[in-house]
Amino acid sequence: MSRIITKKELEEHDENHKDQWIAVDGKVYTITEYKHEHPGGEDILLEHAGADASEAFENVGHSKDARNKLKSLLVGELEGYKSSGAKDEVSSSTTTSASSGSSVMPIIVGLVAVVIAAGVYFTKIAQ
Ligand code: HEM
Repeated sequence: MSRIITKKELEEHDENHKDQWIAVDGKVYTITEYKHEHPGGEDILLEHAGADASEAFENVGHSKDARNKLKSLLVGELEGYKSSGAKDEVSSSTTTSASSGSSVMPIIVGLVAVVIAAGVYFTKIAQ
């Protein structure tokens, strides 16, 4: 359903084009009508026209409302876009927690041994 947009096509829709686009996280949005309503101003949007504005968009900390607004401005998807490698981080942290989990066992065994030894000692003293 959604249309694929090449980098070249995006670049053509800069501030000099009659229909201006910006890209955020691999999706292309039209700012032609919206720029007049943007709470952050028209100029800041035009500065990013024809380019990837993902970083600028995230840095402002836009609200959920702003993200919902994006959906209505969608033109299509940017060709060959790769998302950042968040997946790798998740899998490596899982490995770390699994290995630290197994190293807890000797400590538990040691503590149980100490408790038993203390129990035997105090039983002997009480006699
Ligand atoms: C089409 C894409 C965009 C949409 C739909 C959008 C929407 C909005 C909305 C709804 C707000 C009000 C505050 C909020 O709800 O978070 C806002 C604020 C703002 N936006 Fe955007 N924005 C877009 C792109 C950008 C870009 C690329 C920049 C570049 C840095 C930008 C800069 C700002 C700034 C600086 C404010 C704060 C205004 C203030 O609080 O005085 N926005 N935007």
